[in-house]
Amino acid sequence: MSDRIDLAALPSDFLWGTATSAYQIEGAVAEDGRAPSIWDTFSHTPGKTAGNDHADVACDHYHRWREDIALMRRLGTNAYRLSIAWPRVRPDGRGPVNTRGLDFYDRLVDGLLEAGITPSVTLYHWDLPQALQDRGGWPERDTALAFAEYASVVAARLTDRVTLWATLNEPLCSAWIGHLEGRMAPGLTDLTAAVRASYHLLLGHGLATQAIRAASPSAEVGIVTNLSTIHAATDREEDVRAARRMDGHVNRWWLDPVHGRGFPADMRRLYGVELPEREGDLAAIAAPLDWLGLNYYMPATVADDPTGPMPRVRSVRRLGVPRTGMDWEVDAGGIETLLLRLTDEYGARRLYVTENGSAYPDVVRPDGTVHDPERQDYLERHLAACASAARKGAPLAGYFAWSLLDNFEWAYGYDKRFGLVHVDYRTQVRTIKGSGHRYADIIRAHREGARRAA
Ligand code: IFM
Repeated sequence: MSDRIDLAALPSDFLWGTATSAYQIEGAVAEDGRAPSIWDTFSHTPGKTAGNDHADVACDHYHRWREDIALMRRLGTNAYRLSIAWPRVRPDGRGPVNTRGLDFYDRLVDGLLEAGITPSVTLYHWDLPQALQDRGGWPERDTALAFAEYASVVAARLTDRVTLWATLNEPLCSAWIGHLEGRMAPGLTDLTAAVRASYHLLLGHGLATQAIRAASPSAEVGIVTNLSTIHAATDREEDVRAARRMDGHVNRWWLDPVHGRGFPADMRRLYGVELPEREGDLAAIAAPLDWLGLNYYMPATVADDPTGPMPRVRSVRRLGVPRTGMDWEVDAGGIETLLLRLTDEYGARRLYVTENGSAYPDVVRPDGTVHDPERQDYLERHLAACASAARKGAPLAGYFAWSLLDNFEWAYGYDKRFGLVHVDYRTQVRTIKGSGHRYADIIRAHREGARRAA
């Protein structure tokens, strides 16, 4: 299958990475001055996560990060996308800076650089300090201002060694899943709160972008969006319009404002919630991006549902298509379509696939190996589609597999394993899966090809 990946279409300095996030792997939730985040609260609320799992220990990466960097080296990756835990750095959200929290990321970044691995730092991967939630959280403007202050603190400490910065990871999940559907922290089901949260998340992105650039003019700042290809269940006019609404909810609501187009008028009408706009906000949100991150997992097929949940659509399950252990449809063509859409419609100048991956129920076999042919196939198909997009002109500069390690999959707990490396949560033993070895082969083949071509 790797023969089907047009590796020559990818630039010779392509970033081959893996990605993780703080709360999903670090553990050590009460160490060195860290305070609780909304995810500590949510996961410790009975019934919110599968098996009532929480991430108090997770992969214990806070103590095992050296071992995890060694794994990255074994995979041959040259980049690593990590997130910083805001409640480690400013436990109260806006209060005193906790230098012991910053020290951890300082050591981690140094360790990565020593290993020849480029760090890409995401400032917010959903772990809002609980103290800020207690003061209203993302529906309140102050949270966006606090985010920019926190960004400035982290940037001041790390910009001498970190160039690639992402402000937010998947603001859609924070706003829609956390405030509208209630399946993620903070667990609200309130459209007004959700729309206000979406606005302040994007404002926070814009203000944090300014803060990072003020700390270092050479910083390269982007935002990470999770996008989907959207299909209408039938060609009935109502379903076609439903697909357009879903596209607005999932894709355009996030992409349009950061590209200077404002919030889509059709969606504003649909939500019917007044945006807490102030002069200058839209310009801040539209601060030019150095790059855009695409997280892609699956497509969506929808039908009209006038009384259904926002955006008044119903998901339609396509039959006879492959699915992952998350029950998510596998459609590698979607990643190519989205990369080309970002290029053609939004004029992206540099793109990274900041997440892409699949969960399957892996087991360590008696011989100590993990055989995961479905994940390997998913990886290869999606890489082939990325290379095809690059061949057609998408300015793709890197790919970060989700995830380096099996980890705490939010409301799904530990059952869903996305890692290229298996984690035994009882012993913390790490085992590179078949897909991890395959990824290493592909990276090696690309490097050799690039060397020969030079
Ligand atoms: O685990 C998550 C990650 O935190 C954000 N993007 C999707 C992944 C898989 O669900």
